[in-house]
Amino acid sequence: MILGIESSCDDSSLALMEKDNFKLLFYEKISQELEHSKYGGVVPELAARLHTAALPNILEKIKPYFKEILAIAVTNEPGLSVSLISGVSMAKSLSVALNIPLISVNHLIGHIYSLFLDREIELPLGVLLVSGGHTMILEIDEDKNIEILAITSDDSFGESFDKVAKMMGEGYPGGLVIENLAKNSNEDRFKFTIPLKGDKRVEYSFSGLKNQVRVAIEKLGNLSLQDKSDIAYSFQKAACLHIMDKLKIVFKNKKFSKFGVVGGASANLYLRQNLQNLCDEYGCELMLAPLKFCSDNAAMIARVGVDKYKKSEFIDYQNLAIRPRSNLEKL
Ligand code: KG4
Ligand code: ZN
Repeated sequence: MILGIESSCDDSSLALMEKDNFKLLFYEKISQELEHSKYGGVVPELAARLHTAALPNILEKIKPYFKEILAIAVTNEPGLSVSLISGVSMAKSLSVALNIPLISVNHLIGHIYSLFLDREIELPLGVLLVSGGHTMILEIDEDKNIEILAITSDDSFGESFDKVAKMMGEGYPGGLVIENLAKNSNEDRFKFTIPLKGDKRVEYSFSGLKNQVRVAIEKLGNLSLQDKSDIAYSFQKAACLHIMDKLKIVFKNKKFSKFGVVGGASANLYLRQNLQNLCDEYGCELMLAPLKFCSDNAAMIARVGVDKYKKSEFIDYQNLAIRPRSNLEKL
């Protein structure tokens, strides 16, 4: 079995996956959402301390399997440096103690693999990656080369939900909070402008939309629950339609037979519904990760580990460094 370790942001997670049939033998995640909630976002120093406590606690539970672990796959890029270092340090210690090889995993590749947790990957594939740190449209060819078709020039999609929730005095993370608030509203009361509407550039930008929300909140002063719900509804609609506008341009120019949506914000049902409609229109199969594995988790890291193990793509203890920022080139 392969051990997966994930600690790139505010989730500490370990998973054990059987290499021959992708069976998930152990999975646990300790989320730090509650601790960061009162600050309205992730506090790096607090995240580091919480990882240091949580990771060994989960590790204790997999001790009985130690002899059966073939390799350790760990997220080393991209992410918060102080968080990445917790998982990487634990992976290195274990690798020395158990005398087994290390595998480095790119967190974004991990999210893509969340579509194929229990089976072989299927290519070619179009992907929308929407998380707290990234917003990207990707095209992956049969040879696993990744072309980035669109990125955000400022905030990411998930991050904009977090910031809007914070502005309304709601906790972190904001994605589910906003989605739930929006359910109590059904009229587009605020009619926020969709970013880059009519602009041919295939890129994303959420900071202008965030500012429109800020102005609306300032005008209202004290917010009632209905105000919050109406803001959430109009914001979610504008943010998702922005995602869809640019995807429509891409779909017009590319023929995808499969299109996957991954990352924490891919759990958003309004976005999923819009994507389903687009895929239906173009006769393309929409691929989704199980809801439980949309957000950060070690199962997707162990899954990448299985494929890299089969290709003997190991990394030396001395060469395994954290890379808070990194490029995506190959799956
Ligand atoms: O992939 P992830 O767990 O962490 C990163 O790699 O960044 O994504 C977390 C992000 C947060 O910004 C969170 O607010 C957002 O995903 N998110 C959502 C929803 N659930 C989580 N955004 C919109 N709607 C949701 N239902
Ligand atoms: Zn993530």
